[in-house]
Amino acid sequence: MTSSLKVLADSYYNIDSLEKYIDVYRISKQDPEDFWSTIATNNFHWRKTWDKVLEWDKKESKVEWFKNAKLNITENCIDRHLRTRGEKTAIIFEPNDPKEKAQHISYNELAQHVNRMANVLKNNGIKKGDKVCIYLPMIPALTYTMLACARIGAIHSVVFAGFSSKALSSRINDADCKLIVTADGSYRGSKTVDLKKIVDEALLDTPNLETCLVAKRIHDKVEWVEGRDKWLHEELMNASSECEAEEMDAEDPLFILYTSGSTGTPKGMVHTTAGYMVFTAFTFKNVFQYKNDDVYWCTADIGWITGHSYIVYGPLANGATTVMFEGVPSYPDYGRFWDVIDKHKVSQFYTAPTAIRALAKQDLSFVDEHDLSSLKILGSVGEPINEEAWHWYNDHIGKKKCPIVDTWWQTETGGIMISPIPYVTPTKPTYATLPIPGIQPVLMEANGVEIKGNQVDGKLCIAYPWPGMARTVYNNHERYKETYFSTFPGLYFTGDGALRDEVGYYRITGRVDDVVIVSGHNLGTAPIEDAINEHQAIAESAIVGFPHEIKGSALYGYVTLKDEGSKRDHDNLRKEINQLITAKIGPIAKLDKIQFVNSLPKTRSGKIMRRILRKIASRDTENMGDTSTLLNPDVVEEINKNVL
Ligand code: PRX
Repeated sequence: MTSSLKVLADSYYNIDSLEKYIDVYRISKQDPEDFWSTIATNNFHWRKTWDKVLEWDKKESKVEWFKNAKLNITENCIDRHLRTRGEKTAIIFEPNDPKEKAQHISYNELAQHVNRMANVLKNNGIKKGDKVCIYLPMIPALTYTMLACARIGAIHSVVFAGFSSKALSSRINDADCKLIVTADGSYRGSKTVDLKKIVDEALLDTPNLETCLVAKRIHDKVEWVEGRDKWLHEELMNASSECEAEEMDAEDPLFILYTSGSTGTPKGMVHTTAGYMVFTAFTFKNVFQYKNDDVYWCTADIGWITGHSYIVYGPLANGATTVMFEGVPSYPDYGRFWDVIDKHKVSQFYTAPTAIRALAKQDLSFVDEHDLSSLKILGSVGEPINEEAWHWYNDHIGKKKCPIVDTWWQTETGGIMISPIPYVTPTKPTYATLPIPGIQPVLMEANGVEIKGNQVDGKLCIAYPWPGMARTVYNNHERYKETYFSTFPGLYFTGDGALRDEVGYYRITGRVDDVVIVSGHNLGTAPIEDAINEHQAIAESAIVGFPHEIKGSALYGYVTLKDEGSKRDHDNLRKEINQLITAKIGPIAKLDKIQFVNSLPKTRSGKIMRRILRKIASRDTENMGDTSTLLNPDVVEEINKNVL
């Protein structure tokens, strides 16, 4: 390390002025390896440090960070805090029902819970490298189980507990999980969801899964498969609260998390230990400017990457207090978020545009009843935030005194890539602004030429590896190479379009592929089409996104019917289609509109021209673009005439 870098080293970790950001960014670009090794050296506990900071095999799209370093992420997220802040609250658990008491779990208690859970896993035959599926609601057992896996070197695969049994079983089989941790059920506002029943259905189809641990939450009766099912609380009673952390290699997988692609089955993105830890911790610290007494709340579900990185690993690596909320924003009324902020004196609040839009539609009295003066920073993630929502958030929640961090990133990136640093980067509505140090965004033309300069737009790529990037698609490295590194060789292609304004700020303009972001959930259209094409009356379908006031985007399906289907009642068919989608994928993928058409516009090579269907669904038909390659241009007019 050069001496100037050494001088800056300590101050690197927390960027607290624009001058420092500019300086650190410049250094990180000149020498990314030196930059990340400085961050990693000074802020984490290593059992052994690395022999090489980065190994990058461009041809194989293989990246290794902190090569041969040894560590355990739970020693960084828990053990090292015990001496200095053992009694500090690590997790505030806010239950679904506000009448149920919130739990404050200290770092000392967290250590005990995690160790006990780790021993339960061990007692059930789980060893380093085994895969454990977690299908739990937002209750503390979810966090304990993830960290327990990390403690013993098992790889967790959390499946969002809103996914259907089919989606669950395919993920269990893809990752070859040996054990699943679930609950008897979950609360969702005024309703309960029978999670165990969904798991029971899924496990009919998972030959290699041996054990199902069931946490008690709704205290309801459940079906029981002797030998396979075990109550978690009983297992925990027999487990010790001490468990030595397994020594892990920097590149040992930490978890698998599935994300939808534009084609094919969901991809199991693999994140590894050291790089992910360093990246989530660094970005958490800077994007939320976390200070010791702050209470930080991210409203995401841990079933998504946002929850993994910014409810669990990033905050805990920084010794933060992180809120875990079991409920929904509308229960018992639309003031719930604001009530929780008031109750726990939340300082950083991180949510999604879809929630902001839904809450902005409600009467302002829901907000004004609560004292929000503890807030210092507001965050947004998951999809582009529109100007109206941005201003409402800024005016009514932040009271114009809390910077909004519009954070752009992806499941694949592991952590935040482009975002303002609050109180440092001047914000601009709808702009994610500037890259995090160590991140090198570039804009590309479709023909592979980089677009330099400002006031330009193009396809967003990242030019240099960063520690938090997913290393592969589980069991399918070819797919990883193909999806992310083949469009622009040598660059990571994000699938998003972006523009760079006159001062170099980035604005994400949305997906350029067939992925639609509905209420912040990344949905590939192909798996939904596959699901509905199984309906016996349906010949073919094409699904596109269209703008939706609350959800950001919603799904519009164009469906052609077989002969037998043409005699059926359309409204009934619509119901059946959505039931099928709910069963195969989950209710989040339901279609808002379903139009029955005689045929779909196709190119001569047989590819459905979704660009046109997208325009029709969005009622943006003035300029249809080039339709000359269409085999059947007449259908466009017919579809447009009957648009819903
Ligand atoms: O299109 C971008 C959008 O969400 C996609 C990633 O989705 P997922 O992997 O589910 O991760 C979501 C949480 C990190 C991106 O390709 N996206 C995410 N954040 C933003 C965004 N679009 C615009 N602005 C954002 N802040």
